[in-house]
Order: sequence, then C-alpha cells, then structure tokens
Amino acid sequence: MLIRPAQLDDVPLLSEIEQSAWPKGMASTADEIRSRVELFPAGQLVAEIGGKVVAFATAQRVPEAFFNANRATFPAVTDRGRIVGSHRPDGDVYHLIGVCVLKSHQGFGLARVLIDRQIELARSLPGIRRILGVTRPARYHKRSTLSIEQYVVLRSASGRLVDPVLAFHLDYGARLVTTLPGFRPEDHDSLGYGVLIEYPVHVEPAHKRT
Ligand SMILES: CC(C)(COP(=O)(O)OP(=O)(O)OC[C@H]1O[C@@H](n2cnc3c(N)ncnc32)[C@H](O)[C@@H]1OP(=O)(O)O)[C@@H](O)C(=O)NCCC(=O)NCCS
Repeated sequence: MLIRPAQLDDVPLLSEIEQSAWPKGMASTADEIRSRVELFPAGQLVAEIGGKVVAFATAQRVPEAFFNANRATFPAVTDRGRIVGSHRPDGDVYHLIGVCVLKSHQGFGLARVLIDRQIELARSLPGIRRILGVTRPARYHKRSTLSIEQYVVLRSASGRLVDPVLAFHLDYGARLVTTLPGFRPEDHDSLGYGVLIEYPVHVEPAHKRT
C-alpha cells in the first residue's frame, strides 16, 4: 500500500470514492476536492493499492479563533467544502475534515492508516497547536431514545463504544470534546449531529526518565 498526497488528476476518482462511501447527500463534490488539492495538497492523502486509489483523508489548517467561531456547521468551518476562506498555511489547528474508503475496501484498516498518517503529518508541521475533527455518531438513529450525551459514551458489554465511527476515533487515541447539534442536517444516520474530537499533538513518552 502506498500513502501519498493527492494530485489534481486524482480528483475524478476521489469524487467516485466519496460517492461510494458516504450516505446520500454527504459526499464532497469534485469541485470541492479540486479546491482542497490546489490550496493544501500535502493535507489531502490518498491510499493506493496495486496502483489504484481506494481511500482518501482530507484536512485543512485553520486559525483556532476561526475554528471556534465556525465549528457549529460543516459548511461554515470548511467554507462550503472548498476551504478557500478557512484554510491558512499557518493555521494552528489541523482540522481532519473527513476520511472515506471505497465500499469494497472497507473493514481492512485503511481509514486507520490514513488518519494515523494525517496525525503524524500534523505533528511534524511547525505551528500546529491542536488536531481536531468533527466525526459522526453514525448509528445514533438506532438509539434515538437516548440523549446524544448518553449515546456518545454508550459501550457494549465487551467495553467497546457502540458506535463504530466514534469508536474508530475514541478507542484509538482521540478524546471527545463536545457534541454539535445540526453540524450536518443532511446526515440522517447521525440525526444531524457532529461530535468534536481531538488527538493529542504532543505524545508523552511511555516511560519518563527521572
Ligand atoms: C468510517 C470509514 C472511513 C471506515 O473505513 P475502514 O477502512 O473500513 O475503517 P478501518 O478498517 O480502518 O476501521 C478501523 C476501526 O473502525 C471501526 N469502524 C469504522 N467504521 C465502521 C463501520 N461502518 N462498521 C463497523 N466498524 C467500523 C472498526 O471497528 C475498526 O476497528 P477494529 O479494527 O478494532 O474492529 C468507512 O466506513 C467510510 O468511508 N464511511 C463513510 C464516511 C464516514 O463516515 N467517514 C467517517 C467520518 S469522518
């Protein structure tokens, strides 16, 4: 498997992967993806297997004040997906916008590899103070009698978070910051909610020397 920054000629295929992976009405368009590749190519990572691009993780750098003022909705914090008015080359927040994997290639750890690579990249860039993302409580529609606060911490008997997309982040090093009602009203599975999560920029060494 090869992980590399996206190029402009990947855009049509990335748009197809988005269409294949996301629920109806949530995929980024080719124009949105092209704009992100033009403005911040290093932050648009693709996974290639046998010469074929099969997964995509997209990010931007935004000033923390902008993030805080605009985090309530996806169009506001991403400037309608195009990042023209949101991405700044010296932004101190590394914003993980999204990750998606071609349907036929889901379940093999590709999204984890891509997000781990994004985190590695963010940690290597000068001036990054926070790594934030807004993820999806994607099975909330199945437990809608619970409040969102109850749902996001709900674990099965085995101790895993019940929601697989939340587990994807929260059981792999991210912390839950807050829930965002109406973040993506078109996300019917998540009842419109987003969940703001944060990965640590600085990793404590396992054994501190005294
Ligand atoms: C969410 C998504 C990116 C996961 O891709 P993937 O390559 O299949 O994920 P991985 O194989 O790396 O999974 C890593 C972990 O996430 C969990 N997970 C994530 N999505 C899951 C799902 N839909 N069903 C079951 N488990 C899921 C898995 O349990 C796995 O943990 P495990 O290996 O310890 O069991 C993919 O399902 C997708 O493209 N969904 C549509 C877009 C989306 O919702 N993106 C996430 C929000 S930004």
